[in-house]
Amino acid sequence: MSVRRKLIAGNWKMNGSRAQLAELSAIAAAAREAAGVDVAICPPFTLISLAAARAGGLAIGAQDCHQSDSGAHTGNVSAPMLKEAGARLTIVGHSERRADQHESDALVSAKAQAAIRHGLRTIVCVGESEADRAAGRAGKVVSAQLSGSLPDPEGDGEMVVAYEPIWAIGTGKSATTADVAEMHALIRAHLIDNFGDRGGRIRILYGGSVKAENAAELFAVDNVDGALVGGASLTAEQFVPIIQAAA
Ligand code: G3P
Repeated sequence: MSVRRKLIAGNWKMNGSRAQLAELSAIAAAAREAAGVDVAICPPFTLISLAAARAGGLAIGAQDCHQSDSGAHTGNVSAPMLKEAGARLTIVGHSERRADQHESDALVSAKAQAAIRHGLRTIVCVGESEADRAAGRAGKVVSAQLSGSLPDPEGDGEMVVAYEPIWAIGTGKSATTADVAEMHALIRAHLIDNFGDRGGRIRILYGGSVKAENAAELFAVDNVDGALVGGASLTAEQFVPIIQAAA
């Protein structure tokens, strides 16, 4: 039986508006009711300050964090800036950024180290492509990502891992509980091998078409400590049942 608190994080991606922040009040109310569950929303950078100001106790986070604290990095945002804006966590290494921005494992690790150093809860994403899975390489690919993307964290931020099979993101087709059990067990073994007892305490989230309909069965799988939710986090109507399934 896991002693790790569940974490349900919503990744709004490049979606959202000031008007959409009205969804936060019902999400925050559900979070307050959900004993033993941490809940977060990660809107676009432009909404972090506004969201943090009206979050009602909900943790607001970012979807990326630069690896440097300041300097000549046009268009980027650093961990100190995210904290000043009211962010308490950040995602790093999402597969969409790894693809769109050509982010390497080493860069993801540097981003994670910077965020953890500044006390942010840091969700490091890993996950295989459809081609990797079809070729039976899922375990090998994810193990390599873990080896390259997870720093030995220094700082008071928490490191969290999110397993997000790329072929399940945005498709409405989540991984089966058998696939999830296999991959989360592999990730847990890697974490314990590399971080000892701390590895047993690192939370592992599943992401990829998590919905109200499948959340409970996913959360019943060993080493699933919550979810990183995309589309279903955009409205309270869809996100609240997922929070409730974790409680
Ligand atoms: O980061 C979460 C995201 O990749 C999952 O998206 O829409 O499949 O829940 P979605």
